Amino acid sequence: MDSQAVSDIPRLHDAFRALRDDLSAEIVGQSALIERLLIALLADGHLLVEGAPGLAKTSAIRALAARLEAGFARVQFTPDLLPADLTGTEVWRAQDGRFEFQPGPIFHPLLLADEINRAPAKVQSALLEAMGERQVTVGRETYPLPALFLVMATQNPIEQEGTFALPEAQLDRFLMYVRIGYPDVDSETEILRLARERARQTLREPAVAPARMPLGDVFDARAAVLDLHLAPQLERYLVELVLASRDAGRYDAALARRIAWGASPRGSIALERCARARAWLAGRDYVTPEDVRAVAPDVLRHRVLPSYEATAEGWDGDRLVADLIERVPLP
Ligand SMILES: Nc1ncnc2c1ncn2[C@@H]1O[C@H](COP(=O)(O)OP(=O)(O)OP(=O)(O)O)[C@@H](O)[C@H]1O
Ligand SMILES: [Mg+2]
Repeated sequence: MDSQAVSDIPRLHDAFRALRDDLSAEIVGQSALIERLLIALLADGHLLVEGAPGLAKTSAIRALAARLEAGFARVQFTPDLLPADLTGTEVWRAQDGRFEFQPGPIFHPLLLADEINRAPAKVQSALLEAMGERQVTVGRETYPLPALFLVMATQNPIEQEGTFALPEAQLDRFLMYVRIGYPDVDSETEILRLARERARQTLREPAVAPARMPLGDVFDARAAVLDLHLAPQLERYLVELVLASRDAGRYDAALARRIAWGASPRGSIALERCARARAWLAGRDYVTPEDVRAVAPDVLRHRVLPSYEATAEGWDGDRLVADLIERVPLP
């Protein structure tokens, strides 16, 4: 890393701390969601968020978008959505006598894919493909996506009727699968106060827009995250956790029978990058075992699939990952 970036690190830390504080003041009692959003931003990945309606999923990414120099789009996934509604289409320009590409919402750096399981496989695939390839092909042309490209997809845990479950194999494209729950009493009371304040505000003059973080800062912070110290024993532990999901028999025969598929190398990469990002956000220049264990459930729950029999016994990715974390010894 060049010396200028090194001297910039305290400033970048301050900027991210301020960003986190601002988001926490606006989105109350959802610190895990806010942390995960910032980790995704720093680790260059995408989030799948599962939570009941009205839990500030939309508000959270909107609040982040308002504080970054990055455009934002929201797409409501519905059964009649077409891939072109997402990617864009070639439009005939009669005056020029040629086709011109009209980019779709996917070309926004921050994209909220709301209720991703309400659209059929073709549309889901168009999004997941773009998330993996970082480019979109329309007709014969391929268009690169913006340098910053963060998708937050949401799923509602209730109402499974008429939905199209995401293909398990493609869930791997998500850096993290985050589950959020209801706020506690104090947070709920604070939410009421904030809502009143906002309602009053709209009656008066429009609110002043918050300052936006330049994307250069995001990319510099990403470089700093990659430069953090990760001890070889800890790297080994992280790899061991992922390998254990593929070959759990080394730890426990019953656990091995419960796992149909373990995590991929993409899972190891995600685990490393998320642990690094968490350490960096905490202001440290080294990764701890706790960083790895703290992000492991969100990184791995969608990558470790229970066997048919285990599912019948009530095992899901969450329980399997918890069991793996329990069994693999810390360095
Ligand atoms: N933790 C919170 N902090 C502040 N406001 C909140 C919080 N939770 C909910 N709200 C408020 O509740 C309302 C609903 O939030 P939002 O639309 O972001 O929810 P959502 O999770 O996207 O819901 P849906 O699943 O229906 O799309 C908003 O007015 C939001 O400001
Ligand atoms: Mg919403």
